[in-house]
Amino acid sequence: MTATPSSTTSSCTTSNATPSSAAPTLAGPDTPFAVVDVHRTRHDIARLRARADRLGVPLRPHVKTAKSLDAAALLHDGVPGPVTVSTLAETEVFAAAGYTDITYAVAIDPHKLPRVIALSRRGVTLRVLLDSTEQARCVAAAAREAGIAVPAQIEIDCDGHRGGLKPDAPELTGIGRVLDDAGCLDGVLTHAGESYFAHTDEERRLAARNERDSAVAAAGRLRAGGLPVRTVSVGSTPTAHAAEDLTGVTELRAGNYVFFDLVMAGLGVCTVDDLALSVVVTVIGHRPEYGWIITDGGWMAMSRDRGTAAQHRGYHVVDGSRSSAGVPVTEAFWPRVTGW
Ligand SMILES: Cc1ncc(COP(=O)(O)O)c(C=O)c1O
Repeated sequence: MTATPSSTTSSCTTSNATPSSAAPTLAGPDTPFAVVDVHRTRHDIARLRARADRLGVPLRPHVKTAKSLDAAALLHDGVPGPVTVSTLAETEVFAAAGYTDITYAVAIDPHKLPRVIALSRRGVTLRVLLDSTEQARCVAAAAREAGIAVPAQIEIDCDGHRGGLKPDAPELTGIGRVLDDAGCLDGVLTHAGESYFAHTDEERRLAARNERDSAVAAAGRLRAGGLPVRTVSVGSTPTAHAAEDLTGVTELRAGNYVFFDLVMAGLGVCTVDDLALSVVVTVIGHRPEYGWIITDGGWMAMSRDRGTAAQHRGYHVVDGSRSSAGVPVTEAFWPRVTGW
């Protein structure tokens, strides 16, 4: 966040509008607004791409973080490439923009299958995710009825963070068979969400190894049961940046790495200088007795993500560089925010 000491509090300027002919600058638009530093974004994207190249695994960026076609265009050099999404609305926007290789990485609700099939009919390879026999039966039935394959990945739980089957779950092979009988078995997917609590390089390396081992073990069990496994998909930003060996993995997913955030800076996955997204706000009040500034940003502009609450740092970086009064840039981690 870039909190901007207001010129209006001292000089009562009444207009802050950008002349329509002028290119927008940080001094122009009404606050609050988000700012993406494209140079940092390119740098952050290149950093993970170089890692993935070294590891010999293609990237499937998660676009739920940026939620932007413009930002996504930076991911694959302007050409629509493989992406991960978390909603069908995102899927539909990206499909309309020419993306044809999409993984919808949230457990499939059978009621959403008609939209999935409609997208498949438009030529999108849209993978769905599931972790139960019932879901597998629904996907298989919908695929048969539509006369098309609906590629499905079985979610593997590598660290207890979200859904999925343990790699040694007895029902794994049965689910694989239900999918394969309908031509729908695509592979396995896991996401090491607990890596958001891995505070050292070593913890993240272990999380990455566990993420890979879990997915590869599950894929091995399916193959041992005579089932085809094309995709072995792993990833989160902390583990993607820590993985040392991705043997057996076919793709790496991450989304946060595009802009990074204070959670990643707090963990040490990036530095504050790597953060590529800021919110510019105007300071509309002071409560010095509490150490507060009050801004026109509000919760929604600042995100209600409380990821940093578990860390020892606060969740805003305050940068007063927009001040017209010559106030020096201040950068501070606020103490933990309370009173939510
Ligand atoms: C299934 C899945 N894959 C990948 C990611 C991307 O991880 P990150 O946000 O750490 O980059 C997420 C994020 O929640 C996810 O849910």
